[in-house]
Formats: sequence, structure tokens, C-alpha cells
Amino acid sequence: MMDGGMVGTAQALVRFVGVQKTYDGEHLVVKNLDLDIRKGEFVTLLGPSGSGKTTTLMMLAGFEVPTQGEIYLADRPIKNMPPHKRDIGMVFQNYALFPHLTIEENVAFPLTVRGTAKAEVQERVRNALRMIKLENLAHRRPGQLSGGQQQRVALARALVFNPQLVLMDEPLGALDKRLREHMQLEIKQLHEQMGITVVYVTHDQGEALTMSDRIAVFNDGIVQQIDKPDALYEQPVNSFVANFIGENNVLSGTVENIEQGFCRVALTSGGSVVAQAVNVEGPGAATALSVRPERIVIVPDDASTGGASTDLANRLPATVQDTIYLGDHALAVLKVAGNGEFMVKLPPGAHAGLGHGQAVTIAFRPEDCRALDPV
Ligand SMILES: Nc1ncnc2c1ncn2[C@@H]1O[C@H](COP(=O)(O)OP(=O)(O)O)[C@@H](O)[C@H]1O
Ligand SMILES: [Mg+2]
Repeated sequence: MMDGGMVGTAQALVRFVGVQKTYDGEHLVVKNLDLDIRKGEFVTLLGPSGSGKTTTLMMLAGFEVPTQGEIYLADRPIKNMPPHKRDIGMVFQNYALFPHLTIEENVAFPLTVRGTAKAEVQERVRNALRMIKLENLAHRRPGQLSGGQQQRVALARALVFNPQLVLMDEPLGALDKRLREHMQLEIKQLHEQMGITVVYVTHDQGEALTMSDRIAVFNDGIVQQIDKPDALYEQPVNSFVANFIGENNVLSGTVENIEQGFCRVALTSGGSVVAQAVNVEGPGAATALSVRPERIVIVPDDASTGGASTDLANRLPATVQDTIYLGDHALAVLKVAGNGEFMVKLPPGAHAGLGHGQAVTIAFRPEDCRALDPV
């Protein structure tokens, strides 16, 4: 299930090889992690709280030690390399600025501890403050800045010494939604301009999809899938990923047969559907089907037998529960095969014709339906 996890030694700046971590000697919070990160890449560790993201980042930073396995930075094992020798910049959720130092002094700190010459410190700090557009506030203290401004200072401080790698752990978690979305684009632009390698941690799938080249989806200490954002959404390898990334419709059933990558699935509530056999054991096995809302159409009832569009081979009866108007699109909430929260994305204006309790037929292609592990 390590789809796309390996990139080849030559290009990898960071390699996790068989890394495990336990704090109590019993329970593994990171289980056998293999992950390569290319130079210049923006990789996000995404997963629910407690899934092992921060632990993974802390092992890379050098504040935690793997129980098993090895981490390589630029092809060197780093088990015995102290944090300050790893050339890594870090940004955390709580800024961790020094309250008694000015903004300028905060940003200068990583350079002064490295013994950088005074003129160069001044030059670099000036550039860093310009980059985050806070030149004017250089002499203020952190307490005199807003949350967003403080986080930009933390960012400048992590970047000012040109580290080969920058780690960010939920850096926008304390900001409100608007500012968070603005900062997501700002960090993404900085990444593109500077060509740095970023390992970013978040539990917010929207944030991960917006910013990342690749995303490693964590659950319970195990990487479920590593892929580009669109591949995670379009080709989830299991039900956890399908449900964690974007809106997902689930139908439960049993595999009847598998042929050439497709399977027929008898739905628990009656009827059957043809789906891509992605993650199913074989005939007789339970499965959860996954279909995205925009891959489903509501067809007129008289088309449900003959069929205007023959590739929409899957047809199921449905009952309208509700419609949700969202400006640029609308959603129909349907009851389909026992699932009362089945979402269908509607074309503009189409919600007006649907009323609560109305019987309709939905249709979707076998290619747009994935048979996954049962939930
Ligand atoms: N210093 C620690 N000592 C003991 N257990 C820890 C420590 N840090 C994290 N854990 C446990 O390890 C698991 C993973 O935590 P963490 O890596 O922080 O997850 P995430 O960042 O994905 O929320 C959790 O069960 C957490 O309680
Ligand atoms: Mg965490």
C-alpha cells in the first residue's frame, strides 16, 4: 500500500527506511514507515489526531529517536546526528517566538547562534523580513503582532539560514479560516520561489490538497497511501483514504465475481453494481463501494431501462431527502441502498426540480465506482 512512496535513492533528500517508534515499549505509534522525499518537494503528512504525524516529524528533526529503522538525510544516516547539525528549519503551531526579542532579533537568532558575520546577518534578516512583508515591524516585539504576523515571523526565522529542509507542524492551526487560507498560498509561493524541501504536517485535508506535491495519509501509525493530491482523490487505495479525502459515498455489499479488474457486487439492501475491483479479497468477500458525488447523475426514470448513455451501466433507485444550494453548485442528499446521506453533485439550477420524498434514478459508470475494503 506504499503507492508512490519510493523515488529512487539518487533524488531523495530524506529517506525513512523501516522506521518504527514506540514510547512505552508496547504500542507502536509509527509502524514500519518507508518514505522518500525528493529535494525541492512539498510533502504533507496528513491524518487524524494521534496517527503519528508529529512523532514522524520529531524523528526527522532529531528530537525523538526511532525504535527501529533508519532515517537518511542526503544519503547520510542521522541516528547519531544532533538536531542542530541537521540543517533543518522548523515552524510549529504556537510560533515559539522569543517574547523579549524584537522581530528582527527573532529572525536573526538562527544566524547569530551559527556565528554568522554581522553584516551578513543584517542583509539576510532584511531579505527575510521583506519576503514576509514585515520590514516595517522589525523593531516590535511578538506580543505587538497579530497571530498571522507572528506566524510569518516564525516562517522567516525557519528560512533565514537557508536550511536544506523545512519542517512545519500544523503551523496555521491557531489562525482563523480566512487567514489560514491566505497563509497556505503564501507558504506555497515561498516554497516555489525558494526551491526548498518542505515536510508539512496537518490534519486538514483541504490544506494538504492545496499545498502539497505529494501527501502521505497516516492512520494509526501506518501510511495508507502516498500520492499526488488528485490521485488520492481519484484513486484511493482503501476506504480510509476514500473517506478521509473529500466527499465520499459508500455502498456496502458482497463481491459476486471478479473479471478483468472489475467486479459485480450484490448490495446488502438488494440490487447490484459493477465496480473496479481495487481492494477486494475475492468472491464472497464483503466490500465498501466508493463513488464521488460529481461522478453520479440523476437520470429521468424512463431512461433507467433502455439507457441514453450506455456507459452509465450502474443504475439504482433513490429517494430525495434534501437539496443543498451552495452557490456555484448544489448537492442532492439521497437515500440509496440504505444509505441516507448519499450525495450527488448537481449541475447549476437542477436542485429546483427536486423535492423531498421524490423517487429518482441515479446512474454512474463502473470506472467511477471503486470496490474497497469493508468499513
Ligand atoms: N512524548 C510522548 N510520550 C508518549 N506518547 C506519546 C508522546 N508523543 C506522542 N505520543 C503518542 O503517540 C501517538 C502519536 O502521537 P503524534 O505523533 O503526536 O500524533 P499526531 O501528530 O498525528 O496527532 C499518540 O497516541 C500520542 O498520544
Ligand atoms: Mg501532531
